[in-house]
Amino acid sequence: MRHFLDIHKTRVSDLRSILDQAGQMKSCRTGRFRGALDDVQPLDGSMVALIFEKPSTRTRMSFDIGVRQMGGQTMVLSGNDLHLGHGETIADTARVLSRYVDMIMVRTFDESVLLEMVDYATVPVINGLTNRTHPCQIMADIMTYEEHRGSISGKKVVWAGDGNNVCASYLHAALAFGFDFVFSGPVELSPEEEFVELLLSNGGRYIVNDDLKTAVIGADLVVSDTWVSMHDDQSSKERRHNLLRSFQVNEEIIAHANSEVLFMHCLPAHRGEEVTSGVMDGPHSVIWDEAENRLHVQKAIMRWCLGQ
Ligand code: CP
Repeated sequence: MRHFLDIHKTRVSDLRSILDQAGQMKSCRTGRFRGALDDVQPLDGSMVALIFEKPSTRTRMSFDIGVRQMGGQTMVLSGNDLHLGHGETIADTARVLSRYVDMIMVRTFDESVLLEMVDYATVPVINGLTNRTHPCQIMADIMTYEEHRGSISGKKVVWAGDGNNVCASYLHAALAFGFDFVFSGPVELSPEEEFVELLLSNGGRYIVNDDLKTAVIGADLVVSDTWVSMHDDQSSKERRHNLLRSFQVNEEIIAHANSEVLFMHCLPAHRGEEVTSGVMDGPHSVIWDEAENRLHVQKAIMRWCLGQ
């Protein structure tokens, strides 16, 4: 049985197969209504549980629609709908859900919830984001980059801002897909040391430059994210904004990068904070393709989990 837990826990050849299949499935949908079913129905008769302990627009919509396009059905549950971890153990919840559904996608705070679910589930489990990582998002980002510019191998990717869970999955992807990763953010908000070590000890390229203007010179891809994540203490907002203000991606920053640079953001974005509207809506931005590709890549991830 295959779980999709993190990029560094998945074989590179499997990551490549997922991206190839996502591209094929996307190309087959040309000219259809957005909601139309796929010609091939690999999830026909399947039921997928989508569990959200945190809010979501893209992950919820893209998984739900992706399952339906492939012929399956979904049950979308919030943390409050279940006894998950309060009133019933995660292990027991995993055992019970496995008797009802064919696959489970979980968005949760603590990674331990996901890992305990995996230990006791007898169906595939997919990581829909934890406080530590967001692998489905970065698979969509890689797909988007390669659609526009070809292979990401050997390219320079600059992360601007908080070294959060999305940044962590970029570190994993840097190893799997062979790109140089530059972290440009305050030292207090650096990515987890464990993930940096994993990249460096396996021969990956990780560079720190806290001057965003010089960090982006030669960049092929610039990525930013919110300055206050869902799991961050909201009372730290002012402190975080003060630390991160000089890492805003604006038109001047983009002008210092390669002329062909792409800009990505996993969304939701806070226009005028981590990124300006000029960049989000400008010629280098591929954020809407990036959001769309969540759908295609997650469909391929679900098929991979089911051995298809
Ligand atoms: N990028 C992302 O995961 O978006 P949602 O929080 O809306 O799912």
